[in-house]
Formats: sequence, structure tokens, C-alpha cells
Amino acid sequence: MAKRVVTFEIFRHNPLDPDSRPRLQPFILEETPRMTLFTALTKIREDLDPSLKFDFVCRAAVCGSCAMLVNGKPRLACRTRVEELPDRTTLFPLPFFKLVGDLSVDTGTWFRAMGARVRSWVHTMEQFNPTLEERMSNEEATAVYDLDRCIECGCCVAACATAQMRPDFMGPAGLLRVARFVADPRDQRTSIDAFDVVKTDEGIFGCVGFLACHDSCPKNLSLATQLAYLRRKFMLTGIGIGKDGKNHHNVSQTVGLPAR
Ligand code: SF4
Ligand code: FES
Repeated sequence: MAKRVVTFEIFRHNPLDPDSRPRLQPFILEETPRMTLFTALTKIREDLDPSLKFDFVCRAAVCGSCAMLVNGKPRLACRTRVEELPDRTTLFPLPFFKLVGDLSVDTGTWFRAMGARVRSWVHTMEQFNPTLEERMSNEEATAVYDLDRCIECGCCVAACATAQMRPDFMGPAGLLRVARFVADPRDQRTSIDAFDVVKTDEGIFGCVGFLACHDSCPKNLSLATQLAYLRRKFMLTGIGIGKDGKNHHNVSQTVGLPAR
């Protein structure tokens, strides 16, 4: 059977070159069995244009660096089979993040700043004992492990309508990070501490609920559930705060949420 010929129309631009103009450049390839978009791009770079910029490290959906817009949707190149794509495919870099060149964007700077902004570490007064593993229930460990599976690919942020409108938005990945520490029994922060981090339109109340983030996550993280959980939890926390900034009643218990 004749092999399929596929065309990739790839965004090209070097923001550091004043003469560079953003454009789409077509590349034509013969599809090979089990070819991924990553292998197609590698072949284009090896055989057709060594100047093509795109990122990868692991080729196994672990490092998160190969995310790009494939026919308008954020996807990992290493997890996208060419056989799933039509004869003509457009490739753009992820929006929202700083363009390095062609399909390569700088997600690292944003994720590092976001981690600091949402205070992404266990806050505890306990002394760390390196010889003793802290115990937690299987349910708690499963919840924390599940939320820790984020590979920081940026697909959810690229798909997020609010993030496109306001660059100061924490993004689904940032809010997921907050949920991860709310779920961690070692973290001694209260609901009010966590509410302080996300209580503005840059945080949980900026989410307009389109939930494209949920549909775009290559790790199938439960973004819709987590965003709804945070919104409900912090709305109730907010209601419980008086003018003096103190929580006057335990709203969490009233509505059956974990009292933390
Ligand atoms: Fe990527 Fe999912 Fe993490 Fe968003 S939540 S950065 S889509 S792995
Ligand atoms: Fe690491 Fe695709 S190369 S996630």
C-alpha cells in the first residue's frame, strides 16, 4: 500500500532577529508506521531544515517540553501519532508563554514564578526528620500523588480563555498546585491561608468555567473537579471571614468539607 504523504505547515519566527517575519512554512513528509509528531519533526529537522526549533527531552510524556498547538489544540508532540492527523496539519507554538523561536516557548520561567506565587511547598512547623517517613492514609497519599502528576507542559494554560485575556492569571496549573497542598495532610496552612493566595480574579475567581484546560491535559488530571472544589471551598471560606479578617464559623463543617 502506498505510504501517505502528509504536509505540516509550521509556524516560523525568530523573535531575536529584527528581519524575521512570522509565517507558516510547509514541509512534506512520507508517513512511516507508528510515526509520532515528535519523530516527524525530528525528520524534518534532520532532512529538510536543521534550523527548525522545537523542544523535547524525554519522548515519553514525562518532561512536558514538547507541547505545541496541533491544528489549534494543545498537545504533546511525543504523544501524538501522525496517523491520527489529517493530510494537512498546522503547528503553532503554545500561546501565552514567551516565544523562543518557531515551536519552542519558555514555560520554565512562568512555572517557576507561579510556584513561588502560590507558595508551592509544604508549610509546617514540624522538625524534619530524615530517618522517619511521615505517615498518611492511603486515601490522602493517593490524592496527593494524583495531583502531583502535573508535568508542567503548559497545555492547560494555553487552552485557558482567562489566561489569554489576563497574563497575571494563575492558570489551571497554578490552581491545581494550590489544590495539591490543600490535600496534603503535612501542610499546616488553614483554608484562610490558602484563600489569601487565590482569592482574587487573578486566582480562582478569574476562572470563567469553559474548562478547556480539563480537555487539554495530556495527563488526564481532574482539573474540572479541582477548580470546582477550590471555588466552592474558598467561596465558603470567604463568606466565613468577618470584617476583622477572622473566620467566625466553621463553614467547612457546615457543608461537609474537610475542616482544614
Ligand atoms: Fe500539563 Fe495537565 Fe499540568 Fe496543565 S495540569 S501543566 S495540562 S500536566
Ligand atoms: Fe517529554 Fe514530550 S518530550 S513530554
